[in-house]
This record gives sequence, C-alpha cells and structure tokens, in this order.
Amino acid sequence: MAAKTPIKPADPTVDLASIAARKGQIGKMSIEDVLLILKRAKGEVAKGKEVFTRQGCIVCHTTEKGQPLKGPFMGQVGAVLSPEQIAESILKPNASISQGFSTVQVTTRDQKVYVGFVTAQSAEAIEIRDITGKVSRVKVDNIKERKELDISMMPGGLSDALSIEEFASLVAFLASQKG
Ligand code: HEC
Repeated sequence: MAAKTPIKPADPTVDLASIAARKGQIGKMSIEDVLLILKRAKGEVAKGKEVFTRQGCIVCHTTEKGQPLKGPFMGQVGAVLSPEQIAESILKPNASISQGFSTVQVTTRDQKVYVGFVTAQSAEAIEIRDITGKVSRVKVDNIKERKELDISMMPGGLSDALSIEEFASLVAFLASQKG
C-alpha cells in the first residue's frame, strides 16, 4: 500500500486550496483525514453528478426511480445518511453493509456458485441478483451451501484517483439526493 501523505487537515495552517485540486489526493490520505478535510472542503452538486457518472458509480447505483437496481438506490441517500456516513461508505464499503445488500454465496448440488443479493425467497426457491443485474432462480432442494460473505459487492478504492474537490462534490451530490 502507498504511504499516506502526512497532512493534518484540522490544522488551520494547512493550505487546503493548494491541495484541493490535486488528482489522486484522496487515495493518498487516511480515511480519518479525508473525513476531517471534508468539513472544510466545498463541493459542488453539479460537479459531483459528473464524478458519479465518470467514476462508474452509475453502473451499480441508480438515482432515478424505475431503473433496475443493482446496488442500493441513491435517489434518497441524502435523507438517510449524513454526508460523513456517505463519505465513509465510499471510502470503506466493507465497514457497514447496507441492509438487504449483504452478499450471499450459494453453492448448488450441481456445482454452480452464485454470488449476489437475495431478492426473493420462498419455500421452493430463492432468487439471487448478481452485480450485473442478472437474476437467477435456484431451487431450495438444489442448495448445498448458503453463506453470507462479510464483503460488500461494492469495490473499495473507487475514489482513490479523485482530488479533494472532486470527492467533496461527489459527497455533496449524494447528500442532495433526498428523493
Ligand atoms: C460494483 C457495484 C458498485 C459500484 C461500481 C459502486 N457501488 Fe456503491 N454500493 C454497492 C453495493 C452492493 C452497496 C451495498 C453494500 C454496502 O453497503 O457496501 C453499495 C453501497 C453504497 C453506499 C451506501 C448506501 C447505503 O444506503 O448505505 C454509498 C453511499 C455508495 N455505495 C456510493 C457509491 C459511489 C459514490 C460509487 C462510485 C465512486 C459507488 N458507490 C460505486 C455497489 C457498487
């Protein structure tokens, strides 16, 4: 892992303006430092929307009702999570897994493995949706093993290439999504 740049954002002598636009700064800072600096960094909602698309968040998260869901719906995230919790969810996806989105791995008697979210469940079968959005139906009789994985289907490091400005904008955009 790359060494973290020892900057102290809480220290008023640190010139935020001089590093705010530097690409890749987020990946160089500890999560604690990013959370601290976010309090001082100004984000722009419109810019954040661009970052959301450009960084591929849109592949798994929708912000419009009616689009097929792959990860949690983001159109109301600002009403549910604080900006700090949003930032933390992006920086550390495994730290807390959103309800209903824990990753389940099912192995069948005929040696198939499915990894995804359980979207429906009955006495006869379960439905698992993988990260591409594909839904598979697996008969309960055919399940050899079912376990919950402690990992998020959301990869970490997605925001490492961002500048502080871009990350603050991304968080501001999501915080503005109140449904
Ligand atoms: C490969 C799919 C995928 C991509 C790409 C992805 N996410 Fe996620 N995200 C998920 C899944 C699945 C969860 C739910 C599990 C969890 O909480 O970690 C999640 C959870 C979240 C949460 C917490 C939501 C809540 O209600 O608790 C936020 C915020 C979030 N993602 C933002 C982002 C942003 C911003 C990006 C782009 C930088 C992104 N995600 C990219 C799949 C993805």
